[in-house]
Amino acid sequence: MRVEDPKLVAALPELGVELRLRASLAELTSLGIGGTTDLLRITKHESIPGLLRLLDSSGLPHRFLGGGSNLLVGDGELPWVVLQLASPEPDVVLQGNFAQVDAAADLGRMVTYCAKHDLGGMEGLIGVPGTVGGALRMNAGAYGMQIGSYVREVKVYRAASRRIEILKGEQISFEYRHTSFAADDMMLAVKLELPSKPFKEILQGIRICNEKRRSSQPLGQKSAGCIFKNPPGASAGRMIDELGLKGLSVGDARVSDRHANFFVNTGKAGATDMLALISDVRARVNTAFHMELEHEVVIWNV
Ligand code: EPU
Repeated sequence: MRVEDPKLVAALPELGVELRLRASLAELTSLGIGGTTDLLRITKHESIPGLLRLLDSSGLPHRFLGGGSNLLVGDGELPWVVLQLASPEPDVVLQGNFAQVDAAADLGRMVTYCAKHDLGGMEGLIGVPGTVGGALRMNAGAYGMQIGSYVREVKVYRAASRRIEILKGEQISFEYRHTSFAADDMMLAVKLELPSKPFKEILQGIRICNEKRRSSQPLGQKSAGCIFKNPPGASAGRMIDELGLKGLSVGDARVSDRHANFFVNTGKAGATDMLALISDVRARVNTAFHMELEHEVVIWNV
């Protein structure tokens, strides 16, 4: 989708929005899959309501992109423009046990920054790629913790009210890889309350999680993390593995040999390949275990 309306293009500099023409989503996602569209990089939260009004009046549909690490995007020319927050400096501000973090902040860097200031709790998230906003929307978690437990306030652009709102932690429900945010809400910033812990102790926790991750997940390869959610009481990875599907491929889309719930792009996989592999594996698990696996990865299909 192209941003061509001259009125819209002329308004962008004042809104603090940078236009990148024909951006490749394959380059902006960890799977390395996705077509092209115009990308709008936002430097001022406050300009979002105005920008979205302009997009609406130009008839341009949009999608919000975080770090692109849990996302499978369709191929070819995409039918929406993509909005992404640019990270401000500084993107994490600490006050006592509270961390005020911009949604565009890198998740891993935020965890280490807090750790260096003796604020812990998020050790499990250390190897999870992506932004804080993405982690928040999905309620990212690993090794027994989830980010939602530490959220006290969220600054969000709410599509329903078309306004920026501050929500208290209690107003949001955080479940397993799911939150009560609407699909078209845009995360802007979050206030976390973190337990005090000496840096050395946090570092030990981080090392243990890193080690577990390295030994069980295909870290160096292009992936979007786990493809399916774990059904209650079951493990998607174990079921896929038990069916002997590691290595199963469609084109360059392949079930990882290391962790069966990670599907990797070994070369030039397209969305069509990856989607075909996902639906094949899903059907096989359904036949064998009578379980309907739900996607954990977010799919922007055209
Ligand atoms: N397993 C196999 N074969 C495999 C993969 C796993 O037999 O190919 C078995 C493991 O041996 C273990 C069980 O399945 O007994 C669970 O595996 P693992 O500990 O790797 O955890 P998981 O349930 O597959 C979840 C999250 C991960 C997170 C890890 C660590 C989901 C869908 N996945 O994986 O999150 O990193 O726990 O806490 O909840 C993600 O969200 O993208 C993600 C990778």
